[in-house]
Amino acid sequence: MKSLKVLFALMTAMVGLTVLAQLVPPGSGDEIRERLQPFGRLCLPGEDCAIGAALPGAELAAGVMSGEQVYGQFCGTCHNAGVAGAPLLGDAEQWQPRIAQGMDTLWDHTLNGINAMPPKGTCMACSDDDLRSALDYMLAEVE
Ligand code: HEC
Repeated sequence: MKSLKVLFALMTAMVGLTVLAQLVPPGSGDEIRERLQPFGRLCLPGEDCAIGAALPGAELAAGVMSGEQVYGQFCGTCHNAGVAGAPLLGDAEQWQPRIAQGMDTLWDHTLNGINAMPPKGTCMACSDDDLRSALDYMLAEVE
């Protein structure tokens, strides 16, 4: 009788192990770990990630983008073509009345947006310095 109980316990354990084995996905531990990696990975500015290195955010963080580059990457989308009434790059007629508002206003609108002009001109990763050099570049093109 006792040996029957032991046998029963052993069989239960074996069935249990078989079921458990099915729950573990096939593949080596490394393969499983690789599959469990999240699809995307957040690369914070300043981090040395292979993918992130190609992103403008990383260049901005490294301070290697000039005002002209920031303009080309972000502001030009609208200011090259006058999208939604954006003053055209280098168009003195369109820029003079805006420049006449004073630098504080231009800077405030660059940071916070105005009407269809989005805050930071859509460059959310830009530092104040990046935005300032983009603004300076745009104003220099007028003169
Ligand atoms: C999505 C389109 C868009 C992008 C991108 C954009 N702008 Fe503009 N911007 C506008 C529009 C539209 C106006 C005119 C807003 C108005 O006066 O009604 C404007 C106006 C401005 C003005 C004049 C504000 C004033 O007070 O007269 C400045 C300066 C400016 N943008 C700077 C920038 C800079 C710098 C960037 C990039 C970092 C940028 N913009 C990106 C659409 C854009």
